[in-house]
Amino acid sequence: MRLLATTNGGLESVTSAELAELVGADPERHHRGVVALEGTRDDVHDLHVRSRTCHRLLEVLVDGRVAKLEDVYRLTRRVDLAGHLPEEPFGVVGTRHGDHGFTSMDVAERVGQAVIDGYREATGERLPVDLDDPTVRLEAYLYDDRFTLAVDLTGDSLHRRPYRECEHDAPLRATLAYSLLRVAGYGADDRLVDPMAGSATIPIEAALAATDRPPRPDLDPALAALPRYDPVRFRRRRATHEPRSPSLDVEARERRAKWLRCARVNVEAAGLEGVVDVVEADAREATLAADCVVTNLPFGVRTAEDLRELYGAFADRVREGSVDRLVALTTRPDLLPLAVEERYDVPYGRLDVSVVVAEP
Ligand SMILES: C[S@@+](CC[C@H](N)C(=O)[O-])C[C@H]1O[C@@H](n2cnc3c(N)ncnc32)[C@H](O)[C@@H]1O
Repeated sequence: MRLLATTNGGLESVTSAELAELVGADPERHHRGVVALEGTRDDVHDLHVRSRTCHRLLEVLVDGRVAKLEDVYRLTRRVDLAGHLPEEPFGVVGTRHGDHGFTSMDVAERVGQAVIDGYREATGERLPVDLDDPTVRLEAYLYDDRFTLAVDLTGDSLHRRPYRECEHDAPLRATLAYSLLRVAGYGADDRLVDPMAGSATIPIEAALAATDRPPRPDLDPALAALPRYDPVRFRRRRATHEPRSPSLDVEARERRAKWLRCARVNVEAAGLEGVVDVVEADAREATLAADCVVTNLPFGVRTAEDLRELYGAFADRVREGSVDRLVALTTRPDLLPLAVEERYDVPYGRLDVSVVVAEP
């Protein structure tokens, strides 16, 4: 069956590589922040246990070309709606890009009407609509003339990790943190240092990945409500998944006492006490020796001059030290005085950020 996986825009290639590694898929970019792949129901189960870059997984119900709004209704009516959907409240989220004479709300409304009409024709029942907290969420994407309708299998986004008990002022999305580690080629044998770790999202994601622990052990995925899925099988697969326990060398450094405390709370919540070291250090001064340095540089120290000074001193420590690979997330790659080998531009909330692979 055809699946979609949603992820951080700009990092679709990183998610594709993860999906290939986890379930042998050969994904392609569907549009920004979304990749498409072929997979089985057990692939869906396994990805909900192990994927660290995906936000949601969806099953495609329609993927076709449309010339006018009514085609959205017509294509949705062709779906075996009673076979795919339970008799539970549903909602449609519409996303539209391109030149159309109607809005994404119009797309969502026509899909919703087709679902109600098709389900009633098949079962005699009228499906209730709940736009605020639906049991079944449908995503309707219209990109130019390509219309894709998919049912959400995940529910609560996978990027919300349960170890985040202490929230940083500028927290990094955990899926993005893990993507930076993949870009750096981090593996369990590597010594990893995040010199400006804040609440330790990057070191925690590294240690969870290296030990193959499920990132969302608490997840109760939306697929449990769908007729073609089996929540018992999902839970069984999750219960039989075996983490590894290699010895790791992962360090979270931070200058401020407040964030050092926060990092320790999260490391403990992740069950990684004694695995991730939380160390007080100033990145402008502390020497660096690591296979991988992966960090989320501060975006907004008061002025560009402060950032220039911080980035400059950090780059000096990188050059003087022994660092094999360096990956940094920043809004100001121009202020980092290191040669950039590779760069991914990622819209992040209202900010444009870049993932840079720099030559140490
Ligand atoms: C963007 S935040 C990192 C957030 C982190 N990725 C998270 O998810 O919690 C940058 C961190 O760098 C720290 N920092 C700034 N200057 C530093 C320095 N000279 N040495 C060490 N840490 C520093 C800040 O206190 C802040 O916690």
